[in-house]
Amino acid sequence: MQTLPAFKLVLWTSLTLASLHFGCGAKCSGTNSPTVKQTQLEFKNPPKFMVEVQNNCPMCPVIDIHVKCGNFSQALVNPRLFKVLAFDDCVVNGGLPLGPLQKLSFNYSHQKYLMHPTTWYFQCE
Ligand SMILES: *[C@@H]1O[C@H](CO)[C@@H](O)[C@H](O)[C@H]1NC(C)=O
Ligand SMILES: *[C@@H]1O[C@H](CO)[C@@H](O)[C@H](O)[C@H]1NC(C)=O
Repeated sequence: MQTLPAFKLVLWTSLTLASLHFGCGAKCSGTNSPTVKQTQLEFKNPPKFMVEVQNNCPMCPVIDIHVKCGNFSQALVNPRLFKVLAFDDCVVNGGLPLGPLQKLSFNYSHQKYLMHPTTWYFQCE
């Protein structure tokens, strides 16, 4: 049979691609979740905070990061960086990708808003 080697190659290729895809997905979920870190810069009234949103995946971009943000006010930040969509729903970088290990940062002056990421998608293809 002359078709057999070709068939084996196709099978091998698809298995390899499948395992690469799976491997990346496994590496970039769970422990690589994006993080939102807040550091207090000034202790006046109102206090000032630096927010750093980081993609902790070393291999894949992450898109569409939504963050619980309470009553965060759009007036405090450029919506291209951090857009308030609704109460407790803000989106980072207009939903556009943060590259592997990329960080996006902004400062705001207000009483602290608690923030943490709720949903995101890794782009591992
Ligand atoms: C958010 O703002 C609304 C309207 O000002 C207010 O009714 C609500 O209690 C606030 N929620 C929080 C968690 O501060
Ligand atoms: C936030 O404040 C810090 C300290 O003042 C400053 O170094 C940094 O450049 C500021 N970041 C932005 C995005 O303005």
